[in-house]
Amino acid sequence: MAVRLGDDAPDFTAETTEGTLSFYDWKGDSWALLFSHPKDFTPVCTTELGAVAGRKPEFDKRDTKIIGLSVDPLDSHQDWAGDIADVTGNALNFPLIADADRKVADLYDMIHPEANDTLTVRSIFVIGPDNKVKLTLTYPASTGRNWDEILRVIDSLQLTAKHKVATPSDWTDGDDVIISGAVSDEDAKDAFPDGWDAKKPYLRLTKQPDK
Ligand code: BEZ
Repeated sequence: MAVRLGDDAPDFTAETTEGTLSFYDWKGDSWALLFSHPKDFTPVCTTELGAVAGRKPEFDKRDTKIIGLSVDPLDSHQDWAGDIADVTGNALNFPLIADADRKVADLYDMIHPEANDTLTVRSIFVIGPDNKVKLTLTYPASTGRNWDEILRVIDSLQLTAKHKVATPSDWTDGDDVIISGAVSDEDAKDAFPDGWDAKKPYLRLTKQPDK
């Protein structure tokens, strides 16, 4: 069954390039990015894995642990790691799940039979400190992902978890934000002392809190 927003992220134990781990134990109270790619030794996947490895410091800044997955076996992941470093200049620096029996892929519904009945699609799950699913995204094999967008979404998820705000289209960290519709103007005066710009009664822009 599909894993949807707000669901408890399914826990699992899996063999990875960094040893066998239990997902909840490994994740602890951090945020996590769990993503699948279709297959080792394929071009788009090679660029993606290097791109994620290169951004690890940015995920670390956001207290977000990274874990990848495909249905290839462990020795394949280990051999492929050399190519990733060779092609992208970034060595694999996060665990890659070897899900040859598709246990985790099935738990998270990462195999979409109408796309390919044996390989995982490019699934993304961002999971919060409470182990609830905060974001799901699915891309086809032919389209490599933009990891800066994933970092941008994590910024929004973390901000909106802490403050009664939402982030507008194309928002990036530091831009003005929208005061939640659940906050009355009266309450907003206390919560947002710098005030706001009411473009419409339902669209009140204010400075990003904590900036
Ligand atoms: C790729 O990463 O390039 C790829 C993987 C599986 C199917 C098609 C393309």
